[in-house]
Amino acid sequence: MKPTVAPFPATRLRRMRKSPAMRALARQNTLTSDDLIWPIFVMDGKDDETPVASMPGVVRRTVDRVAIAAKEAQDLGIPAICIFPYTGMDARTEDCAMAWDPDNLTNQAIRAIKDAAPDIAVMTDIALDPYNINGHDGYVENGEIVNDRTVEALVKMGLAQAEAGADILGPSDMMDGRIGAIRAALEAEGHQNVCILSYAAKYASSFYGPFRDAVGASSALTGDKNTYQMDPANSDEALRLIERDLMEGADMVMVKPGMPYLDICRRVKDSFGVPTYAYQVSGEYAMLQAASQNGWLDGEKVMLESLLSFKRAGCDGILTYFAPAVARLLQD
Ligand code: PBG
Repeated sequence: MKPTVAPFPATRLRRMRKSPAMRALARQNTLTSDDLIWPIFVMDGKDDETPVASMPGVVRRTVDRVAIAAKEAQDLGIPAICIFPYTGMDARTEDCAMAWDPDNLTNQAIRAIKDAAPDIAVMTDIALDPYNINGHDGYVENGEIVNDRTVEALVKMGLAQAEAGADILGPSDMMDGRIGAIRAALEAEGHQNVCILSYAAKYASSFYGPFRDAVGASSALTGDKNTYQMDPANSDEALRLIERDLMEGADMVMVKPGMPYLDICRRVKDSFGVPTYAYQVSGEYAMLQAASQNGWLDGEKVMLESLLSFKRAGCDGILTYFAPAVARLLQD
C-alpha cells in the first residue's frame, strides 16, 4: 500500500500532530496490561527474596512469595506469569532428572500460583539448563549437544509441568522436533488444551548474560550455545523455524531477544499472522535500568517506548521484567 501524499501545502503532516486530541486520533498502536507476560525467578526456601545484582529491581522469590506476586499481578491485570527456577550445583546432574520431578521448583510454583491467583495463565520454560551439570539446554555427549535424546527428556519435563497445571509450555531449548514430540505427548496424556509458546526464533545472544546470573547458570555453563541457538546474522532462517514449529503444533511463537530483533518480529507477523510474542530479555532490561539509574535516560519513558515498539513491530505481547512496573503505571 502506497501512502498518499499530496504536494505541500495540500499535505502538511504536522496538522495531525498539533494537539493531544489529534495525536490520539492518529495513534495506531497502544500498550496495555493485556500485552504483558511477567518472567519471575523462583528459589528454594521460605518467605524470602534476594536481589539479582545485574537486574536492578528484579528479585528471586521463594514459592510462597511467588504466590503473593501472582496475586499482585492479577490485581494489576497482567494475564500471564512465566516461571524460571534458580538452581544451585546440587540440583544439577548428568541425567537432569530434576527437570521432570513433579516437585521441582517450577512445578511447586505452578501449583502455588494456580491456588493464589486462578485467573493468571502460568507459563513455563522447557530446557535442561537449570538441571544440567554443564548448563546446556540439552544433553552433552562427547562435547556435542545431542538432539533426539534431549527431546525425550524435554517431553517428560513438559508433561510434568502440564500435570502441575501449566497453561502455556515454553520450549526454549531450540532442539529440532521438540514441538511435535511435546504436542503428541500432551494429546496422548489428556492435556489437549495446554498451549505451546515456542521460543521458535531464539538467537545465540549475549543479551542473556544477566539472566544466567539470575538463575545460577553463569558458572555452570561450559562453552556457548551456538550449535542450537540461531546466528544473529540470520533472518530467513527465523521464518523456517517459525513455520516448522507451527506445523508441529505451536499455538504461539516467540522472537528472542526483543529490541535488537524487531525486524524479525515484523517479518514473522507479516508472514504468518499468528499470535506472536517477543522476549525483552535480561540484558535489554539491564541496559535501560542502568542508564536510568545513572540519570542518563528517563526510566519510565524508555520503558513505555521500548514496550510500545514491540506492538508497532506486530507483536501481540511481550515477556518483560518491567511487567509489574508498567502495569502499575498504566493503571494510574
Ligand atoms: C534458557 C533460557 C534463557 C533465557 C530464557 N530461557 C537463557 C539462555 O538461553 O541461555 C534468557 C532470558 C533472558 O535473558 O531474560 N533456556
